[in-house]
Amino acid sequence: MSTEHSVLMSSDRLVPRSRCHPITGATRLVGVMGWPVEHSLSPRMHNAAFAALGLDWVYVPFPVRPERLADAVRGLVALGFAGCNATVPHKAALVPLMDELTPIAAATGSVNTIVIRPDGSLLGDSTDGHGFLMDLRAHGVEIGPSANQHGDDPSTIASPGHSVAAPPRHRVLVIGAGGAARAVVYALAEAGARVAVVNRTVAHAEALCRMVAEALPEAELSAHPFPAALPGLAADARLIVNTTSLGLHGDADPLPWDPEIPFWPDQVVYDLIYHVRTPFLRLAEAAGAHAIDGLGMLVYQGARSAALWTGHNEAELAHWMKKELTQ
Ligand code: ATR
Repeated sequence: MSTEHSVLMSSDRLVPRSRCHPITGATRLVGVMGWPVEHSLSPRMHNAAFAALGLDWVYVPFPVRPERLADAVRGLVALGFAGCNATVPHKAALVPLMDELTPIAAATGSVNTIVIRPDGSLLGDSTDGHGFLMDLRAHGVEIGPSANQHGDDPSTIASPGHSVAAPPRHRVLVIGAGGAARAVVYALAEAGARVAVVNRTVAHAEALCRMVAEALPEAELSAHPFPAALPGLAADARLIVNTTSLGLHGDADPLPWDPEIPFWPDQVVYDLIYHVRTPFLRLAEAAGAHAIDGLGMLVYQGARSAALWTGHNEAELAHWMKKELTQ
């Protein structure tokens, strides 16, 4: 890239001048609040998608101290922002600041997307679970009571005059019961999966299951101790999800797994961490499992937020966001 055709946009990245957005009085504003926020990939992926699609929108990162969160939200409304994302540590603290919550935000006590309506009222949503399911789908994995991995289980096709026995629900093993697990467990349960939550502090897993069951009474959820319950549950899980932060520091972290437990070929193993290919994913991959990191979840949760704000097609937004982060 020649200097002539580039400009320093963020702290350390050169991007083509053609991608610089001319900001005018008509430009719509959105962003992300976090503390810290400087490592967020969201500004990069949102602005790339807006530019590629010719949308007159700009996405700005905001370092917001936890004690200034309410002020920051009021500021967004006063400044005419269309909405904002939130990341650690603000997702739970935003809940009481909203005028209305979507069912998943209410049930999980977490807001990652604020939509500011024209009258200044605030809708709080959580797009993380949607992002997770969309990324699974993008990898050919459909979650549902009546779908196999490819969504085409012929035994579930009903014909007139024939009643078909309800197929077994997808069995999913979720490791961890923190903030990230809430969205994932809710989304899986809502999609019809049977979810076993395994956690070091089993009381946290029980509380998570209760929280989701309150909103989704049909859900089949169970709580188990980590790591003792892993071997029994792993054998029968079509999908295993790590929602803990173990692996964020690579080999320096303990595995959220017991390496003695085998994976089956084509078993789907998902790790929400996307900064690094975690030792857990590498282990699963080496055993022939379908190993997926959380980058796609980041993309799809962002695409959903951007679609809510702009009204633009979510799949197109996701396409450009993914392109930006994977090129
Ligand atoms: P997040 O919001 O990113 O999910 P969190 O709320 O701190 O982060 O949750 C971290 C999860 O990782 C929890 O389920 C935690 O287990 P506890 O509920 O017992 O604290 C789990 N976790 C963290 N360190 C762990 C470790 N060394 N071994 C097993 N589980 C661990």
